[in-house]
Amino acid sequence: MDASLDTLLQGSLAALSEANRLRRLRPWHWHNGTLHDANGRALIDASSNDYLGLSQHPLVKTRAAEWAVRHGAGAPASRLVTGTRDITLAVEEKLAAFKRCEAALLFSSGFQANATVIPALAGVGSDGTAIFSDELNHASMVHGCRAARVKTQVFRHGDLDHLDQLLCQQSGNPERKLILTESVFSMDGDRADLPALVQLAERHGAALYVDEAHATGVLGPEGRGLAAECRGVDVVMGTLGKAFGAFGAYIAGSRALIDYLVNRCPGFIYTTALPPAVLGAIDAALDLVPGMDPERARLAQNSQRLRDVLAQRNYDTLGSSTQIIPAVIGSEKDALAAAQRLEDAGVLAVAIRPPTVPEGTSRLRFALGSALDEASMQHLLMTVATHLPPHPLKAG
Ligand SMILES: Cc1ncc(COP(=O)(O)O)c(C=O)c1O
Repeated sequence: MDASLDTLLQGSLAALSEANRLRRLRPWHWHNGTLHDANGRALIDASSNDYLGLSQHPLVKTRAAEWAVRHGAGAPASRLVTGTRDITLAVEEKLAAFKRCEAALLFSSGFQANATVIPALAGVGSDGTAIFSDELNHASMVHGCRAARVKTQVFRHGDLDHLDQLLCQQSGNPERKLILTESVFSMDGDRADLPALVQLAERHGAALYVDEAHATGVLGPEGRGLAAECRGVDVVMGTLGKAFGAFGAYIAGSRALIDYLVNRCPGFIYTTALPPAVLGAIDAALDLVPGMDPERARLAQNSQRLRDVLAQRNYDTLGSSTQIIPAVIGSEKDALAAAQRLEDAGVLAVAIRPPTVPEGTSRLRFALGSALDEASMQHLLMTVATHLPPHPLKAG
């Protein structure tokens, strides 16, 4: 049995390798806040989601360590058993205030939140639910839709006319409607038009669920996310392992939403609570993030500088208007080769390939952080300008 399973697995891996889609884990070291490869070579990190550099911030690290020493290394149980501490509830209250919502609930990861909250919400009431999901939504939301086992319709990326059509076709049916979108799309770096989505949702009596994984801490007033700019989003999900430099995720919304999830969401109920060190890191990040407007402004400026250099080399950066900047290349092989060229020149910009992105759109995904100093930024721009050949499809 084992041997035949291994044979099948090896066959599958060989097929991935043949298609240039094989993924391998590589070890990285962070020393004094700088990324080093396995040979100890320092690289400019243009691929991490630590958008505000908070994973290396002294206050975040110190509070994580202090809370571990004071409260223990791990949580003793799931939240509904003995895993809820006063510090857990205090961090959730602070998160809710940050998101300007009535209540918030911590999750172990963003994947876990999307994969389990969506089916939990689809299961409420007796009329059933119809889900409408942007075609570029993250794999965790796709997973959540599949686990919900309800009718899911996928609308073209950011195409609200298409969404409107699908919602109209559904009108008259008893099912409740749930619209799913990211506020900043993880692979394209563009933004959803949340005010228009809110209007559309209201017109069709639909609920709106927004994944703010890449906006939390970076965009919106004081980094509160794009949903904080417009009223009417029913469910806000966000992660704490990206701009917050910590770990975990949250759902924010009404008191009823949070109380419902405490009772009905398996990914919350049947898992061990977040450990004190993580809670300490989140708590410190919550103190820091609102005051980081200068860092957010620098990040926005640097992102535009990189988009400009890529545009000069004819690269399509899709609709990016954020710190996530794709440079679309096309084939898996060419994307891998481009990443290797940059890495040889001291810049880490990881190649992203299908199935993470659609066929034929393999790309370098740059993800910038405000911790990149001016010298590193200049080196990054110069490396892109000199080591990435002009995009062949569009060149001259
Ligand atoms: C849009 C989006 N949602 C959810 C997640 C999952 O979050 P986590 O890394 O906390 O599991 C990610 C992670 O990359 C993401 O990009």
